[in-house]
Amino acid sequence: MKGKFITFEGSEGSGKSTQSGLLVRYLKREGVPVLFLREPGGTAISEKIRKILLDHKNDSMSASCELLLYMASRAQVVAEVIKPHLSNGTVVICDRFLDSTIAYQGYGLGMDLKLIRYMGNLATQGIQPDLTVFLDVPVKDGLKHRHLHEDRIEKRPLSYHERVRRGYLRIAKSEPSRFKIVRLEEEKSATQKKIRELVTKLLTAQCTG
Ligand code: TMP
Repeated sequence: MKGKFITFEGSEGSGKSTQSGLLVRYLKREGVPVLFLREPGGTAISEKIRKILLDHKNDSMSASCELLLYMASRAQVVAEVIKPHLSNGTVVICDRFLDSTIAYQGYGLGMDLKLIRYMGNLATQGIQPDLTVFLDVPVKDGLKHRHLHEDRIEKRPLSYHERVRRGYLRIAKSEPSRFKIVRLEEEKSATQKKIRELVTKLLTAQCTG
């Protein structure tokens, strides 16, 4: 794998999409070959799966169906887009990846973490992020930004979202060199500055190492 793989993670309303979008525009201006994706999504098949997963009418979906669909969407985007682009030397930036499943289905729904990692290995073909930016925001603050038409996951209770955040913090503790906590600043540009520092460090290490 010649490229670098950077993922963004965060609870609901953490400003992930804004911050990842700002980073992508910055890297493009700097002439870095970059590809931006979101999960679930990023391919025609994965976007169809996303619709099923987030449709609030699918309330009766079982936890294992939910887990399998997130993994199915991931397997497709890895095979069709992420792996080929990393092989070509592209910097791939993905809004969410396997850590989301560990946090939301593992810690949030209580599904077995070993099973998730085992299935995750199949879906990702063993590809792991070089850097994960976790945008941390108190759950109550983040949920204030919930959409008017909440999706199936967003509308889960506060206690669920608290478990998800605690799950992310556990991942941060176990993998501190990859999984970096970035606390949201008042100013978007100040948060972005912290993210760019982490990314520059990663990409410079690539050039010198
Ligand atoms: P988004 O709102 O960041 O686009 O993500 C879609 C929703 O899907 C969000 O509520 C988090 C949830 N999700 C999981 O529960 N498990 C996963 O593996 C992923 C990728 C997302």
